[in-house]
Order: sequence, then structure tokens, then C-alpha cells
Amino acid sequence: MIKITVKQMTAEDVEEVFQIEKLIHPNHHWSKNSFYNELSNKLASYWVIKDENNKILAFIGAWIIFEEAHITTLGTHPDFRRLHLAQILILKIIEVCYKLMVKYITLEVRESNIAAISLYQKFLFESIGQRKNYYQDNGENAIIMFTQNIWYDTFKNNYNKLKEISNKAEIIYDE
Ligand SMILES: CC(C)(COP(=O)(O)OP(=O)(O)OC[C@H]1O[C@@H](n2cnc3c(N)ncnc32)[C@H](O)[C@@H]1OP(=O)(O)O)[C@@H](O)C(=O)NCCC(=O)NCCS
Repeated sequence: MIKITVKQMTAEDVEEVFQIEKLIHPNHHWSKNSFYNELSNKLASYWVIKDENNKILAFIGAWIIFEEAHITTLGTHPDFRRLHLAQILILKIIEVCYKLMVKYITLEVRESNIAAISLYQKFLFESIGQRKNYYQDNGENAIIMFTQNIWYDTFKNNYNKLKEISNKAEIIYDE
């Protein structure tokens, strides 16, 4: 079990997040400036997971606009996959959404990205349509996924259940 901390992303984290972003998407990654811009965007909520040595293992970002949240980015360092780190970050975004009275969470995902689609389905996101040729690098279609109203019991019960079983890592929450 690894000991991790969930923290809000700061400008000091950007260089390291960018290195992970490049590892994950060698050919079509965000620029460092995109991350810096996001950190000064009042609608944005960006988080990182750090280990005991302050090494960043995973990151997530979302925009929160009135009653809707849009997950803009999510990545786990390739050496730290399947430890529920992405799951923990989505739980964090949902927690933020409850605090801000958000009703729905949405995102776009490549139709070939089985890992991410499975992850979102675990949180009861459903596919509601497609954006054709959405990704510029290879023309791949995006699947648009949405939650149901996150205040409904089915969503909430599932969220609470996933919170309980996110136990592959020992989490120290630090906001
Ligand atoms: C998708 C991604 C963020 C998942 O990160 P992760 O930290 O390894 O995921 P988690 O360990 O939290 O997985 C939680 C659940 O998601 C599903 N999942 C994750 N990876 C999966 C895979 N490779 N295949 C099938 N299901 C997978 C499983 O249900 C898993 O739960 P389980 O391990 O109890 O079965 C990671 O693979 C990644 O960084 N991919 C590249 C970037 C990316 O695709 N980002 C999303 C863009 S929309």
C-alpha cells in the first residue's frame, strides 16, 4: 500500500504534471501553458496525487460552470496504474461538485480508450452521443459521457460505495 496525499494543483506542480502528460500522450499533449492557464481560471478545479516523497503520481482537472462540471484532463503515471488513483481523483471532483451544488458531470473520451471508459462507467457515467473526428491528431471520434443527476440516490450510493473501497492506497487528505 502506498501513502498518498490529494492536493490542489499549484504552479509549482506544473513542470512535473507536464512530464507525466508527455509520457502519457507523446504526440498530442497539452502544453505547459495550458496547465498554467487552467490554474488561473476561476472555473477550474485541478488536483494532484502525491506520494510520501512529494512525487506526483496522477492529476485531474475540471471546469465547474453553474450546475455542470466538465472533466478536462485526467492522467495516472504509467508506473502507478490500477491503484485506484484515478478513482480517488474522480471521487475528489465529485466531492467538490457536491460542495458547489453541481448536478451533472460530463466529459469527452476517445472511443478506443477502454481503460478510461471502464473507469467512468464504474462511476455510472453513460454515453449520450459522439463528436465525430473530434481529436485532431488522428481524427478519432469522441464519446460524450454524462452522469445522471449526482444527487439521485443511485449515483450517491455508488459514489459512497466507491469511496469505501478506494483502499489500495492509504490516503491522507490535504486540501
Ligand atoms: C484511464 C486512467 C486515468 C486510469 O488510471 P488508473 O489510476 O490506472 O485507474 P484506477 O486504478 O483508478 O482504475 C479504477 C477503475 O477503472 C477501470 N480501469 C482502469 N484501468 C483500466 C484498464 N486498463 N482496463 C479496464 N478497466 C480499467 C477499472 O474498473 C478500475 O477498477 P479496478 O482496478 O478495481 O478494476 C489511466 O489509464 C491513464 O492515465 N490513461 C491515459 C490518460 C487517459 O486516458 N485519461 C483519460 C482521458 S478521458
